[in-house]
Amino acid sequence: MKTAIIYVSKHGTTEKTAHYIQKKLGAENTQLFNLKSNANFDLSSFDQIIVGGSIHAGMIQNRIKDFCSKNTLTLLEKRLGLFISCFYEGEIAQTQLEKAYPEILRKHAISCQNMGGEMLLEKMNFFEKLIVKKVAGISKTESKLKNENIELFINEMSK
Ligand SMILES: Cc1cc2nc3c(=O)[nH]c(=O)nc-3n(C[C@H](O)[C@H](O)[C@H](O)COP(=O)(O)O)c2cc1C
Repeated sequence: MKTAIIYVSKHGTTEKTAHYIQKKLGAENTQLFNLKSNANFDLSSFDQIIVGGSIHAGMIQNRIKDFCSKNTLTLLEKRLGLFISCFYEGEIAQTQLEKAYPEILRKHAISCQNMGGEMLLEKMNFFEKLIVKKVAGISKTESKLKNENIELFINEMSK
């Protein structure tokens, strides 16, 4: 089975997760596409498509939104997996996940997961550091990656 992983990442967490999924699904059959550097590719040869982005100020990247809306019909014809990276947990994370992807795609998806997130202060600019300190009280690098959700996602996408 051929898989395409389409992602956008600001500080590298979603990218790291995308690479991990690629490794676990088998690098020989799994191709990564970073929408920041490559927006023109052909999905027709893939059986399975995974889309992942991260949440900033409550929203997923516009590149992910645009990709999903331009490719809705194609995504509905394939095995689909959707995920977000985000730092909040519980109900807020669930609402962010629901806002990130249209309902029609979430319902069609084999797996739709919140993979957790990281606050990587060394990758943030001055304003980002100020925001995360003020809004979330974060003043040092922290990881809240949800390994159990990542493994569950990979498991569901491998069935
Ligand atoms: C400026 C800023 C705003 C953020 N806003 C949110 C937010 O609204 N909700 C949330 O759950 N996480 C938020 N985060 C945490 C990111 O989702 C988390 O760092 C994620 O791992 C980033 O993934 P990326 O490096 O792939 O972009 C924010 C992080 C930054 C730096």
